[in-house]
Amino acid sequence: MGSMSGPAGDKKTGAVQVDGDDRIVTPHPRIRGTLQVPGDKSMSHRVAMLAALLDGTSTIDGFLASEDCLHTVQAMRDLGAQATQDGATVTITGTGGRYRSPMRVLDMGNSGTGMRLLTGLLAGHPFPAELTGDASLRSRPMKRIQEPLEQMGARLELLGPRGCAPIRVHGARLKHVTYVLPMASAQVKSCVLLAGLLAEGRTTVVEPKATRDHTERLLRALGVRCESNGLEITVDGTGDRLPRPRSQAWSVPGDFSAAAFWLGAAAMLPGSQVLLTNVGLNPRRTAFLDVLKRMGARIEIFPTDTQNSWEPAGAVSIEGGELQGTEVAGEEIPNLIDELPMVAVLGALAKGRTVIRDAEELRVKETDRITAMLRCLSAFGVKGEERPDGMVVEGGARIRGGGEVTSFGDHRIAMSGAVLALAADAPVRIRDVACVATSYPAYWTDLVKLVAGGQRVEAA
Ligand code: S3P
Repeated sequence: MGSMSGPAGDKKTGAVQVDGDDRIVTPHPRIRGTLQVPGDKSMSHRVAMLAALLDGTSTIDGFLASEDCLHTVQAMRDLGAQATQDGATVTITGTGGRYRSPMRVLDMGNSGTGMRLLTGLLAGHPFPAELTGDASLRSRPMKRIQEPLEQMGARLELLGPRGCAPIRVHGARLKHVTYVLPMASAQVKSCVLLAGLLAEGRTTVVEPKATRDHTERLLRALGVRCESNGLEITVDGTGDRLPRPRSQAWSVPGDFSAAAFWLGAAAMLPGSQVLLTNVGLNPRRTAFLDVLKRMGARIEIFPTDTQNSWEPAGAVSIEGGELQGTEVAGEEIPNLIDELPMVAVLGALAKGRTVIRDAEELRVKETDRITAMLRCLSAFGVKGEERPDGMVVEGGARIRGGGEVTSFGDHRIAMSGAVLALAADAPVRIRDVACVATSYPAYWTDLVKLVAGGQRVEAA
């Protein structure tokens, strides 16, 4: 293992050592503490895009100041909005109903959400625009948004190989459509709904399974008519008459998908006790809590009174213990799609087998998360079986440390690997962790905090 260097090295606990682009995580028997995780990624992207489109000045507190969302903020500036950022507060003065033609290519970084949602909005603008991103984003499927947007009357050139970005979008006056989504994807659904917002008439999207509904909630909070009826969502197009809200103040709760790393770590390390404050509790995001409960974790939820709020939130406390393997499939999948790497980690610690099915969408995330997680598990000596739509994880074996895992440039693989390293029997090197900054820049600091909390208990 390399020697410790760099400012994030934690000398006190030795929990995380920095070695260039790698981190070396030292195992620890438990974590403890109270934590506020950073703002929700899905909500931060969406509020920034709509605040920049509308009238007036919006203040967004709890904004996720990570690379992904800051790329979206920069794109908003490139499209004519004024935006300033001060920590987790972002202030945006919108363009008053339509974005301006950008002077340069819009760089969405690593973010599928940024690229797919913004393309939907740009499809309703009368100028061409080009969107690009990093190598991972340029390898992700974009035909899934080309098809509905072209049905609505826009034209999309997919300039990368095999239907990938860069995307050149030629916007138009859009027609409303009814679009049956071929896959359960909140990004594609949101892309069509946002294009529908700028279209004439009523646009309907039919989902195969319910996915996160942040776009629908935000549109309603802005005064747009957007009705959900089972799996059918209809938005009233506003054509040229977008709502003109006065200045708005938004408060973004903590990201449940960031909280999931600590919920998982606490659940699998007996003696752990963690309280996560003000975390988003939208039921379309929290199926991981049901899985944790099934596996045996003790969880308590303290909902905040969010009657007047656009999104439910609250505190979650969890205590660790022995876990049982479980099966995760079907309708649950979209509601914990980003937590599935952590389900695999928990499966490794649980008694018996853990099975993940119906999750083929994992293959088109920032990396192929089925292959990547099985590689990660096998670096710890954990046995698993790859399936086209998921995996089987054999739990209960020793978690072998001393080796290294690669992130494949995927933030969630890096962060899940680091959690599993806490349960290993020797330090583990997590390679290429720069990607963590796309969604959770404070991840290592928070890990060190919770490990330090666990140490204090030991000393007491
Ligand atoms: C997201 C939707 C999901 C999720 C992603 C964020 C969103 O992607 O994995 O992290 O904000 O709409 P898909 O729509 O591709 O499933």
